[in-house]
Amino acid sequence: MKLYIETVGCQMNLLDSELVVASLRKDGYELTASIHDADTILFNTCSVRQHAEDKIYSALGRLKDAKRQHPDKVIGVLGCMAQKDQGLIFRRASYVDLVVGPGQLHQLPRLVREIRKAGGQRMEVSLGRKEGSREQIERSHESFDPLRDPAMRTTPFQAYVRIMIGCDKFCTYCIVPSVRGPEQSRPAAEILAEARQLAGEGCREITLLGQTVNSYRQSDGQRAWRLSDLLESLHAIEGIDRIKFVTNFPKDMTDDLLAAVRDLPKVSKYLHLPVQSGSNAVLRRMKRGYTVEEYRNVLARARDWIPGASVTSDFIVGFCGETEGDFQQSMDLVRQSRFKNGFIFKYSQRPGTQGAKLYADDVPDEVKRRRNNDMLQLQNQISEQDNQPFLGREVTVLVEGPSKTAEKQGDAGERLQLIGRTHCDRIVVFTGNRRQIGQFLPIVIYDANAHTLFGEMVAQPAGPERIERLQPVVMAPPSHGQ
Ligand code: 5AD
Ligand code: SF4
Repeated sequence: MKLYIETVGCQMNLLDSELVVASLRKDGYELTASIHDADTILFNTCSVRQHAEDKIYSALGRLKDAKRQHPDKVIGVLGCMAQKDQGLIFRRASYVDLVVGPGQLHQLPRLVREIRKAGGQRMEVSLGRKEGSREQIERSHESFDPLRDPAMRTTPFQAYVRIMIGCDKFCTYCIVPSVRGPEQSRPAAEILAEARQLAGEGCREITLLGQTVNSYRQSDGQRAWRLSDLLESLHAIEGIDRIKFVTNFPKDMTDDLLAAVRDLPKVSKYLHLPVQSGSNAVLRRMKRGYTVEEYRNVLARARDWIPGASVTSDFIVGFCGETEGDFQQSMDLVRQSRFKNGFIFKYSQRPGTQGAKLYADDVPDEVKRRRNNDMLQLQNQISEQDNQPFLGREVTVLVEGPSKTAEKQGDAGERLQLIGRTHCDRIVVFTGNRRQIGQFLPIVIYDANAHTLFGEMVAQPAGPERIERLQPVVMAPPSHGQ
């Protein structure tokens, strides 16, 4: 039987899809890239912005005829939009068979089996944030982390590892706390066991995932675990050469974590530290819990503790009541912070959030679009400048696979354009050999734009023993305090 799955959204969703596919493979499914060939069609969805939802509803619309012609095809909607819209999905697309929230994915193989056998529609979602006691709600959002399946990842040598689920920050614009439930940290022993298993299967790089990954807190009766403790224990696992973690919440960026990133060579000196706005008035309405001055301090501390750290950030433009002055303060922050990359989003009102209840979505779309473009242009200039110190330098990349160009050209030969990533999460394009995919390689950089470094291979391939020597890339000193 054939399974087609489409995934939108964040890394959490990519991981969920990997695990969903792994669990259905156990039931005899094989993955197909063609939606027409599939017996079961799944959409793993995102609710963070309206646009992501619109895309899924139009993809569902395109399946109406296919389902009429082949009523035995099972169509399922999984993830955040399933949890948010629930029965509305059946009302908007009556031919959908299955709606499963992110906290119920463990039920999926059984539900698909039942539908195949008996027909009918099935829906499994978790409790809403006001539909029970904290404990009941927590229990209704189950962390879905069954055994891993390296064959189901884009690359077997890189893996996401979930360390927390949910979020308790309730930023006023954000739907995540209601669809992914209360913040819950996974037991450290489970995470370490999973990382050891991944290492045993040949995985070289792990990325720890949590909505606020640096808020990780666990107590197993014997000791208390913070993210820094977890990093230290993961660092000792042989075979794992790189460790990353996303996404950080600025207020929870503690000194022990900065020290761990500085002192543990396998941990990438890369921090994703979303700020969202450079205006205190907007940050207050967003309920982010910090001021711009406090954020600048966190950033300065991070760069003092971790020389050469690459920092990236997220911004929302056009949040309720954002004036031109507020926006210019965000631009100032972009200009002064010199992020490696900035991810910029137009505010999208989410029903059910405090933001939707309290404030009018009053910035016109063309203003949002213009602010988005202005900020993107500024950040691109900075990203390009930020990449210049790499010219002429040697970096070590983990080779991920063919570049987009090579994929488009359907390059079948042994020599082709490859894409790799530096320890500090920079993308490097170079020409190499197919068998180098999954290896660490030394590359000399000869060109750079805002998002990509271009390089050439250095004659001698780097084994893990060379990583230490090649890794530290000294960059221009951070220019904080401007
Ligand atoms: N509208 C626009 N962007 C949003 N984000 C979260 N919620 C919204 C929203 N309602 C952005 C934030 C977050 C990133 C993952 O998505 O910048 O950091
Ligand atoms: Fe959403 Fe804020 Fe939680 Fe991030 S910290 S997931 S933006 S509520």
